[in-house]
Amino acid sequence: MKPILKLITLGLFLLGCTPEESTSADDRIRGVMADSAMVVTTHPLASQVGLDILAKGGNSFDAAVAVHFALAVVFPEAGNVGGGGFAVIRTEKGELASLDFREKAPLSAGRDMYLDSSGDVISGMSRLGHLASGVPGSVAGMWELHQKYGSLPWESLVEPSIKLAEEGFLITDLGANNINGALDFIAQATQYSPWILKEGGWSEGDSVIQEELASTLKKIGSKGRDGFYLGETADLIVAEMTRGKGLITATDLEKYEAIWRDPIIGEYRGHKIISMPPPSSGGVALLQLLKGAEQFDIKSLGHNTSKTLHILTELERRVYADRATYLGDPDFVDVPVAMLVSEAYNRNRNASIDLSQKTASQDIKEGSVDVIESTQTTHYSIVDSKGNAIAVTTTLNGYFGCKVMVEGAGFFLNNEMDDFSAKPGVPNMFGLIGNEANAIAPEKRMLSSMTPTIIEKDQKLFMVNGTPGGSTIITTLFQTTMNVIDHEMTMQEAVNAKRIHSQWLPDSIYIEPDALPDSVVLGLEALGHGISSRQRNMGKVNAILAYPEGQLEGAADYTRGDGTALGY
Ligand code: GLY
Repeated sequence: MKPILKLITLGLFLLGCTPEESTSADDRIRGVMADSAMVVTTHPLASQVGLDILAKGGNSFDAAVAVHFALAVVFPEAGNVGGGGFAVIRTEKGELASLDFREKAPLSAGRDMYLDSSGDVISGMSRLGHLASGVPGSVAGMWELHQKYGSLPWESLVEPSIKLAEEGFLITDLGANNINGALDFIAQATQYSPWILKEGGWSEGDSVIQEELASTLKKIGSKGRDGFYLGETADLIVAEMTRGKGLITATDLEKYEAIWRDPIIGEYRGHKIISMPPPSSGGVALLQLLKGAEQFDIKSLGHNTSKTLHILTELERRVYADRATYLGDPDFVDVPVAMLVSEAYNRNRNASIDLSQKTASQDIKEGSVDVIESTQTTHYSIVDSKGNAIAVTTTLNGYFGCKVMVEGAGFFLNNEMDDFSAKPGVPNMFGLIGNEANAIAPEKRMLSSMTPTIIEKDQKLFMVNGTPGGSTIITTLFQTTMNVIDHEMTMQEAVNAKRIHSQWLPDSIYIEPDALPDSVVLGLEALGHGISSRQRNMGKVNAILAYPEGQLEGAADYTRGDGTALGY
């Protein structure tokens, strides 16, 4: 048996079940059930690292740090030290917090940096190569998380990832395909020959050893934040930037700070929704969508019926139009958060929804966008035996970020600058448009859709949830939340359920492969909607549901990727 499979089997043996099996008498599909603690990540080895930390007495926040660095090794597509993200936290005592470790624009960035002399966006400049990278936030974020909530020594949390990088791991089929799909771009952007550019490409079961990354992780392990933002690692990043004419300087790195922010909080049918505030648009948009859905009897209308999907789509179109207009970095622009999530605003905003036909997009707001392309990023959810919970969504933006691996340091840099609005009305790679609120400025954080979310019911932990998926993150969270609360699905059923997405522009409903029967598609078309069938799935949710009796259900999106839930 291959070691990776051995490991998964070991983890599942611990639990005595596989995620596909129903373990209950009621014949429902449930994920991995456990009595005390749960780790759900996008890679079996990262989940195992998290579980080991919990088993050693670490808390959820310790496990999150260890998982974060492990994902940087085993899931270099989106796991990272060269990117950023957001965390939403609920402690065993019910204390709530959110941590912003989003990348920011370098000091010498400017609002027109991706425009040519005619004022047109230069294609690809904010996505590929050194200029596309924002100042990374992940290491500062993990350091800050550990300073405030960690219990085990920092070094012991970085150690498992050093081991994985030094000793190697066997790549999965999906992992090999992801790398192979990016090789040409990596070769184009990286101006030397890193280990990842393997002659003939990668195959399932190949061993991946990353000595340079191990050496970077050792510096982070021994020096903490300073092991990345100062000294040798910082010098290597600056040297890489100098070679590729990027903008990040030693001062940019030295100045980077992760920021604690008050989470955004709302209600949905008696549940308390705790999510990420700006500079993510995710929490605001999710609360707006749920506030809108509350006006309809979603349960009676049924799951994925044309009537329900019509309502979801109409809500989504309005919310994404608001996102484009109002959302940006709150340290730079006034974001009217209270107004956007208020009952009155949403009632008024949604009053034009007609149950018998679609509203024309230009009546919601003007604009023009082509396609939604990319669905990367990664999310992990963790609950420990005391009930501490953390939801972390982290990203390089596109898979392998700007496709530049820092020479001598062995990690990819992000291409998060593409999440800014390079020019009002011109879409980014997710087809999202923006305006002044999300224009580029030195040290500003680019708007995100990442939506790590924790839900309480009756003042107790109820759900920990999140997903990758670019612009589809918000609508995926919206659907999984309703699947459990309105449609009374188990967590695994909610995660497995087929998804749709709409975002005002492009003016279409995107559906996963085989998501809807013809009758539902015809019903939506009769209401005036255009339907676009996607070749790929949307999102890779990693979620945990806490049952009133104390059991935890870990639901990885294993039908859409390598996600693995492990608990005890
Ligand atoms: N880079 C994807 C997001 O932050 O939404």
